[in-house]
Amino acid sequence: MALKHQAPRGTRDLLPDELERWQWAESRARDVLARYAYREIRTPLFEDYELFARTSGESSDVVQKEMYRFQDLKGRDLALRPEGTAPVARAYLEHAMGGAGRCHRLWYMGPMFRYGRPQKGRYRQFYQIGAEIIGTVAPAADVEIIALFVDLFEAWGFRDLTVAINSVGTPQSRRAYGERLRAWLEPVRHRLGADSQARLDSNPLRVLDTKDPAELDLLAGKGGDLGPMPRMLDSLDEESRAHWAAVLQALDALGIRHEIDHGLVRGLDYYTRTAFEAHDRSLGPGQSALGGGGRYDGLIEALGGSPTPGVGFSIGLDRVILVLEQRGFAPPPGPAKVFVVAMDETRAPAAVLVRELRREFVVDWDPEPRSFGAQMKAAGRSGARCMVLLGEDEWKRGEVVIKDLASGSQETVPRAGLEASLRAQLGGELNREIPSR
Ligand code: HAM
Repeated sequence: MALKHQAPRGTRDLLPDELERWQWAESRARDVLARYAYREIRTPLFEDYELFARTSGESSDVVQKEMYRFQDLKGRDLALRPEGTAPVARAYLEHAMGGAGRCHRLWYMGPMFRYGRPQKGRYRQFYQIGAEIIGTVAPAADVEIIALFVDLFEAWGFRDLTVAINSVGTPQSRRAYGERLRAWLEPVRHRLGADSQARLDSNPLRVLDTKDPAELDLLAGKGGDLGPMPRMLDSLDEESRAHWAAVLQALDALGIRHEIDHGLVRGLDYYTRTAFEAHDRSLGPGQSALGGGGRYDGLIEALGGSPTPGVGFSIGLDRVILVLEQRGFAPPPGPAKVFVVAMDETRAPAAVLVRELRREFVVDWDPEPRSFGAQMKAAGRSGARCMVLLGEDEWKRGEVVIKDLASGSQETVPRAGLEASLRAQLGGELNREIPSR
């Protein structure tokens, strides 16, 4: 029989086995974020469409072709959030979180929505972990954000991460650079695809975002006598240049591996000065970015606030998990499980016992009145570490049997001593939580 419904294209269900990996990654991230003194913020999954249109940039892919835009029943113009920074900035303003001399460290985790062509590592509903510091222009804040970015990857076991970094200057210096870039590309305009030709007119920096191999070669100075591509760093204003130098110096001092990428412009328009990304080539050319971020000193002002600088990043959790999977990563086992097996005569007390044990232990049992043999099989399949058997005779004597499913050994213990015996038997496996570091 054909199924009547499937998950919408570009979305997927995360099933329990897979989610163990996600929960491990999320828990490790929470731990790192807490030690960096960031605090969680949760914003709605949808916002006014204008919030994103105004901040992401009219010429960005996100606004041009990826927004889940809809009207509600009252005709409000809304969009599923394609990213988290504009909503955080909106919330920051709405709740007047700013205060003189204070900066705010915030993080968020959750689904984002972009209507793109789905493929491995690219989904229409995907998950991000992001962090933002709002309220400081200090280069030390950029470096703290990059250190946090790297430390999250380290907590997930990435040891070989290099951060690609660039400075996109101010809107003025970027405009000046855009003109230089346009002039440089003009002689080869005919060799660009239709998309890039349009971008050359509307926003030349977007041409640097191309995934087309022939265009990438052109930008890399291959196959033409264009000479080297002009660099954004050469168009920086003095203050941005000083900021850039301070960031690089502090990254070196912290031993954070980084590489200057002159073509790095980021896909959203709100960036100023520092911009950075991390990539994993194994994901394929179009979706290799594991995460990225940068400074956005004009964003909050664009939303009607007083000029308030900020810097942050988001990491694509789907892609992180894909890379972990490719590397054969299995999350550490959770706490040991106990399986309770009852006879027909001991079903009712077993239900009570299960509830009592669940105050302390992870307990499974079969709610169906199945045969002893069927329950034993279910216990074996459940991954339980041990079984508690409620035999009729033992129960009448006030006893139960604990069977170790690994060794097969068993012992009869008084009901009153069951918890203590389980504690002794399961020992360290009981409180086995996700290790924090
Ligand atoms: P972004 O570079 O657009 O930045 O997205 C961050 C990350 O989200 C990407 O590097 C990628 O891992 C993941 N991602 C994006 N689109 C998809 C998709 N369709 N499927 C799977 N993963 C995806 C931002 O969103 C900014 N808000 C980052 C930021 C925070 N900048 C400053 N603060």
